[in-house]
Amino acid sequence: MKFELQYTDPRSNARAGLITTDHGQIETPIFMPVGTLGSVKAVHLHELKEDIKAQIILGNTYHLYLRPGLDTLEKAGGLHKFNGFDRPMLTDSGGFQVFSLAGIRKMREEGVEFRSHIDGSKHLFTPERVMDIERTIGADIMMAFDECTPGTADYNYAKKSMELTHRWLDRCITRFNETEPKYGYQQSLFPIVQGCVYPDLRRRSAEYIASKNADGNAIGGLAVGEPTEKMYEMIEVVNEILPTDKPRYLMGVGTPVNILEGIERGVDMFDCVMPTRNGRNGMLFTKDGIMNMRNKKWENDFSPIEADGASYVDTMYSRAYLRHLFHAQELLALQIASIHNLAFYLWLVGEARKHIIAGDFSTWKPAMVKRISTRL
Ligand code: GUN
Repeated sequence: MKFELQYTDPRSNARAGLITTDHGQIETPIFMPVGTLGSVKAVHLHELKEDIKAQIILGNTYHLYLRPGLDTLEKAGGLHKFNGFDRPMLTDSGGFQVFSLAGIRKMREEGVEFRSHIDGSKHLFTPERVMDIERTIGADIMMAFDECTPGTADYNYAKKSMELTHRWLDRCITRFNETEPKYGYQQSLFPIVQGCVYPDLRRRSAEYIASKNADGNAIGGLAVGEPTEKMYEMIEVVNEILPTDKPRYLMGVGTPVNILEGIERGVDMFDCVMPTRNGRNGMLFTKDGIMNMRNKKWENDFSPIEADGASYVDTMYSRAYLRHLFHAQELLALQIASIHNLAFYLWLVGEARKHIIAGDFSTWKPAMVKRISTRL
């Protein structure tokens, strides 16, 4: 994998870059739609590629390991062949899902023992096992196995958790270097900074992660219960240390505003379930603010969903019709909302990139934050 830093904003830490993988290029800053089980929920491949213009999507090790399982993934020739998405993919390591989804966990130095949220069966994730699983899934970017420290953790817990994540990282790197990609294209391993809301821990973690000289670096343990201002502060602390010549990925973040704030602070990659999950609940993100499509307000509003929206669904359907679909629990509502929101997120990061390149990001960004923060 290669990263070329193309432009840096003169008045902030915002950057525009280009990642090159064996499955194609990614223009940064970028948003990665979440495809937990290898599918972006309610969205066809054609729409994902041609309308939303997703350049990279994300899958989850924890989910894919449980279903369809490694045998099927290996026989398919990896996740790209299995789901038909021939552009870059990234897999999260399970370091977040094991803690948020799995029942009865036992954490120890070796790894995490957990019970499947599907059938209660027992499993053990160690850093070595997770590397092997991510090799079998075959994403272009594999995430290291970490503990996602809750945003409310006390200092002592956060410190011990960060140190465990660092020891697990060393084991991940050893296993990664001992093994080969299975399907004939390269894979990169991204380590993850932890340290909760404590600046000294974040600095230590960023220094440790930077010393590994990985192809890219991630910031984890944010948007997990800490105040938003703390999250921004931690991004600043960490990005002062992470190398500028490698992509920086802020995991699991966030709202459109969070993403613009992250870009301003030097983040290049984002993922979040928000556009799809909140979309399925009727929440639409638009250039002029947030709309709750279940609201009675839209009952007789026959204007387009978003007249100058980023996707064809925006002018194909009216607000009143989409509200009706949500009320009648029609599956089409979930499709329209997911396509709309993802197209908006990809449009937003694409615009940010254009303005970084044009040199006016620092005036464009506050105006856009104000515009998209409105409640319609
Ligand atoms: N997704 C959101 N936050 C995190 C994190 O801290 N670690 C991992 N592995 N995934 C995440």
